[in-house]
Amino acid sequence: MSDIQKDKKPILLSGIQPSGHLALGNYVGAMRNWVQMQQDYLGIFMVVDMHAITVRQKPADLRNRCLSFAAQYLAAGIKPEENVIFIQSHVPQHAELAWVLNCYTYMGELNRMTQFKDKSKRHEDNINAGLYAYPALMAADILLYQTDLVPVGADQKQHLELTRDIANRFNNTYSPTFKLPEPFIPKAGARIMSLQDVDKKMSKSDSNENNYISLLDPPDVLRRKIKRAVTDSAREITSESLNRPGIGNLLSIYSVLNDMQPTEVVNRFEGQQYSGFKGELADSLVAFLEPFQQRYDKIMGDKGYLTGILDEGSMRARHMASKTISKVYRKLGFVPAGRS
Ligand code: TRP
Repeated sequence: MSDIQKDKKPILLSGIQPSGHLALGNYVGAMRNWVQMQQDYLGIFMVVDMHAITVRQKPADLRNRCLSFAAQYLAAGIKPEENVIFIQSHVPQHAELAWVLNCYTYMGELNRMTQFKDKSKRHEDNINAGLYAYPALMAADILLYQTDLVPVGADQKQHLELTRDIANRFNNTYSPTFKLPEPFIPKAGARIMSLQDVDKKMSKSDSNENNYISLLDPPDVLRRKIKRAVTDSAREITSESLNRPGIGNLLSIYSVLNDMQPTEVVNRFEGQQYSGFKGELADSLVAFLEPFQQRYDKIMGDKGYLTGILDEGSMRARHMASKTISKVYRKLGFVPAGRS
C-alpha cells in the first residue's frame, strides 16, 4: 500500500462490465492499452458489476464472470503490485457518490445518452431507473479517484463528456473538488468488427457467438470462427482489401496479433486467396491466445491468489475513494458521522 501512496504517477482508470465473454475487441480496444500504459500511470482497473445489473444477470454467471474477468486482466499482463484491480461493488463509495451525482445530473442530459436509447430498445421490458442513471454511476467511478485519463471507445465518449460536465457543475457550485478527466481514444484501426455482421463492432455480449472471438475460445473454436468469418465475393487479397468490410477487419486483426502495420500485412498477402490467409490468421490467433489462456488457467486454479489481489485492490480503492467522498459530503453540508 505504501508504494502506491508514494506513487506520483497520474491516474488511468477504466472498467469493463462482467457480461458476455471478454472478446478480442476488448483486448485490442482496452486491455492492451492498459498493459502498455501501466508504466506511466497508476492504473485503476475495475470489473463493474454494479453497471452490469442494469440489465438482468443470472447470479451464478455474474459471480463467475467477475472473477474470470479479473483473472483475464491479470493474464493480459496487468501487474497487480503496481495497479489497483478490484470489483466495483467491493467499494461502497461508488454507490455513495453516484447518489450525490444523480442530484447534479439533469434528466435532459440523461435523455440524450445514445447508449440509454439503444439499451432501452433492446430491453423494452426492463427500462429501469438504474439503466437511466447509469452515467452518474460511471461519473462516480471516475471522479472518486481524481482520475487523469480514461481510455474509452467511441461508444463511451458521450458518458465521459457528461462526467466532465457534472464535475464542472459541482466544482463551480462549491469549490474545486474533482479533477476533470481527459478521454484517451485509442488509435484508429484498433476497432475490431463483428465476424458475421461485418458493419457492427465486435461485442462481447452478442447473442451470436460466431460474431466474436472470446479470449478463452479453445483452438478448434477459434479456427472455426475464422473460417466462417464473412468476407465478400472477391477471392484474393489486393491493395483494396483493407477498405472492404469483412476482409479488411481480418487483415487488421492479423496486424494487431503480429504487431505489424495493416499495409505491411496487405503487402505480405497480396495475391493470395482469402482461404489461405484465413488459415494463417487462425494460426496467429491460436499462438497469440495460447500463452494468455495458460496464464488464465493458472490464476483461476489458485482462487486464493486471485481473491487476495482483489481484496488488496479494493482496500486500496476504498482508501483513495474515502478521501473524495469525505470532501464531497463536507461541501454538501452533511454532518460528519461520529467515529465510533
Ligand atoms: N460504461 C462502460 C462500458 O459500458 C464501463 C464503465 C463503467 C467504465 N465505469 C467506467 C469505463 C469508468 C471507463 C471508466 O463500457
